[in-house]
Amino acid sequence: MKVYIENKYKNFVNLLKFSYGKYHITDVFRDFVLMFAISIQNWFYYRQEYEDLYLQTIKKYQKSEHQFFFKLVGELVKLISNEDEITDVLGEIYAKIGAYSKQNQQFFTPTHLAKAMAKLQLGNVEDLNKKNFITVNDPACGSGVLLLSVANELDSKKIDYKSKALFVAQDIDLICVCMTYIQMFFYNMAGIVIQGNSLINEQIRVFYTPEYIMKKWNEKYKEGR
Ligand SMILES: C[S@@+](CC[C@H](N)C(=O)[O-])C[C@H]1O[C@@H](n2cnc3c(N)ncnc32)[C@H](O)[C@@H]1O
Repeated sequence: MKVYIENKYKNFVNLLKFSYGKYHITDVFRDFVLMFAISIQNWFYYRQEYEDLYLQTIKKYQKSEHQFFFKLVGELVKLISNEDEITDVLGEIYAKIGAYSKQNQQFFTPTHLAKAMAKLQLGNVEDLNKKNFITVNDPACGSGVLLLSVANELDSKKIDYKSKALFVAQDIDLICVCMTYIQMFFYNMAGIVIQGNSLINEQIRVFYTPEYIMKKWNEKYKEGR
């Protein structure tokens, strides 16, 4: 089946196809988000288990192929900085290349719907301004589109979501965790992204955004509760 890829995503998707079929495009995408998320996380909060997972993943590729993962980072930076609003770029690419896991019922909310939901849910700006901060939670976050839309809505209401909102995301699928984490990193959102089954309160891995670590949100959260 031929899938229509929007022009703006073409360079990124072409880079995913660097091996001309030696690796499946969805595997390259998954490995890319996993390694990029670990690189960000370990830069700010080093954990050997995450490093081992990174090394195990990069090992699948030949040295001459590593450059394509750096190029993908560059292309993603370009895509995100070309957007006027906070946008779920990775979720849109994930859907386009058909990387959804049917087993985990991964059907993500389209961006325009997520934005409408955020508008409806946030309500009165006055109420928000009176609070120290708010917490926003998605226990089945996918690529994080609902949380990104809340950040976008706060931003459009001139509320500084970086200091006024703590985002808590969870997903059973590590790749979804990584997509959410990367995008929260790009938009300087303070947050925690947990891998685990929300139905049984499981926590397999936890990723903390640089904004969360650097602005000491763990202390702010304890005080503000
Ligand atoms: C229907 S999608 C919704 C994603 C996102 N909230 C959105 O609106 O686009 C559901 C997500 O839940 C995740 N999921 C399914 N069962 C889960 C569970 N028990 N605990 C945590 N996440 C789960 C899937 O991996 C998938 O990413």
